[in-house]
Amino acid sequence: MKQEHAARRNLLSIYDLSPDEMLAIIDSADRFEELSRRSIKKAPALRGKTVINLFLEPSTRTRTSFEIAGKRLSADVINVSDTSSSTKKGESLKDTVLTLDVMQADVIVVRHGSSGSAQFVSRYVNASVINAGDGMHEHPTQALLDCATIKRNCATIAGLKVAIIGDIAHSRVARSNIGALTRLGAEVHVAGPLTLMPADVASLGVRHHLRVEHALEGADVVMVLRLQKERQESGLIPNLREYARHFGVNRNRIALAKPSAIVMHPGPMNRGVEIEPEVADGDQSVIKQQVEMGVAVRMALLYWIMNASDPLTN
Ligand code: CP
Repeated sequence: MKQEHAARRNLLSIYDLSPDEMLAIIDSADRFEELSRRSIKKAPALRGKTVINLFLEPSTRTRTSFEIAGKRLSADVINVSDTSSSTKKGESLKDTVLTLDVMQADVIVVRHGSSGSAQFVSRYVNASVINAGDGMHEHPTQALLDCATIKRNCATIAGLKVAIIGDIAHSRVARSNIGALTRLGAEVHVAGPLTLMPADVASLGVRHHLRVEHALEGADVVMVLRLQKERQESGLIPNLREYARHFGVNRNRIALAKPSAIVMHPGPMNRGVEIEPEVADGDQSVIKQQVEMGVAVRMALLYWIMNASDPLTN
């Protein structure tokens, strides 16, 4: 039976956080990054707490960084995947999380292919729930780490022109980033094939461009989205070569952005499709920094979710 925990904190959507809360988590990530650079990367803040990473969809960056983040804060971290759990035998998501919850998990981090799955899980468990990507819906911790990376490089977020290029309609990264960036005062411009643009794009508070060049002109930040290759199989794009020709971020196109612009990609990348290798690996790329910030921001988030107050000392 689920008990009511008035003080329980969840992160199911980026809209669960106010702009002040987003900035507080982003800004506190610096302290956690400093801890990660020590020779002994460990603080006792979450000692005795149990974090379960329930990843029922593939992940490299998010799963690994949540595991590292929990361990660096001394939590006990358990990973559950679809291939090694009883979901493979047909156990439902509800029965899976009810089972994990009675093991006294404090936090359940959920990645699942269905939109709304994190919200669904939160209805049945006493643990705090963090959405690590649910279908096409949201990826709020990606938005937090992206905002932290932007703030690190550009000093501020308010007033920046951020161009998001690619498959906006199916991208949980785009949805969460739009929610974070617009509320932090950035001017968000989007471009991509019309077949990959949400019908209600104007209602998202962004400016939509038919040509990628127009979105890139004078941009401070260029965020390139992964092209999900199944979109070609479902007929939403003609082929990958055509996509790269019209929407791929290459050296000529990136030259339209400000010389100081940073280039971001949440990963995994399709090199030569949505982004040219020279851009992904070029001087303006902060893609590796995004991964590093991912650990620090997820440490900051676990600390915030658990309402921890222990100092970050050994
Ligand atoms: N950006 C992101 O969510 O990457 P993973 O799928 O590797 O976790």
